Amino acid sequence: MRVLITAGPTYEPIDPVRFIGNHSTGKMGYALAEAFAETGAQVVLISGPTSLPNPTQALITTTRVQTAAEMYEAAAAAATTADVWVFAAAVADYRPRDVAQNKIKKDGDTLTLELVKNVDIAGTLGKTKRPEQFSVGFALETNDEEAHARGKLQRKNFDLIVLNSLRDPGAGFRHDTNKVTLLDAAGQMTIFELKPKAAVAHDIVRTVLARLSLHNA
Ligand code: CTP
Repeated sequence: MRVLITAGPTYEPIDPVRFIGNHSTGKMGYALAEAFAETGAQVVLISGPTSLPNPTQALITTTRVQTAAEMYEAAAAAATTADVWVFAAAVADYRPRDVAQNKIKKDGDTLTLELVKNVDIAGTLGKTKRPEQFSVGFALETNDEEAHARGKLQRKNFDLIVLNSLRDPGAGFRHDTNKVTLLDAAGQMTIFELKPKAAVAHDIVRTVLARLSLHNA
């Protein structure tokens, strides 16, 4: 089995020293790469900038990228031959329209940056998904969690979505733990307890493998 995983944040440059980014650490995506590799799967891990070392398991190939455009290019190259896609990255939705060649000086009291929308990596690849392929998305929400997650599941053609609520203490960015709810395209919902991200990764992998055998039966 071949698995494509996106992980971590993307950094969208403003000038040579500044960027727009987010607090994603990449821990959940890296834990998933390890958990899939433990089942014998070949993993292509496409990672935005993180402080984590590349996984050392021989079955995991890591590609480092900075921007959403670079992450898309690397993911698109691996997607056709992958059986499972896992979009764990926190992709910046917008990037500065123009990247300044030189460091921007603080000339005025205000500074306006014009942002343009980035490619939706999961959504764009979702349109090319073959029936035997299985796509897993993530949704980090603060309100109306289930409705937002179900909307994303449909819009991006996911087979399974991993929902994190920022209302749950210990879930989401910057924690070593996570509390997730899995929702599938058939409407089934499974709520898991708060646990270390490695254990959450095993729950997700077990669910994907079980669904995949049904999916392709
Ligand atoms: N995603 C992606 N490319 C993007 C944005 C999101 O691949 N440009 C993926 C994420 O990796 C995640 C899922 O889509 O698996 C949902 O991400 P999220 O940022 O919650 O979705 P958005 O469509 O950006 O919705 P929102 O309006 O809530 O930001």
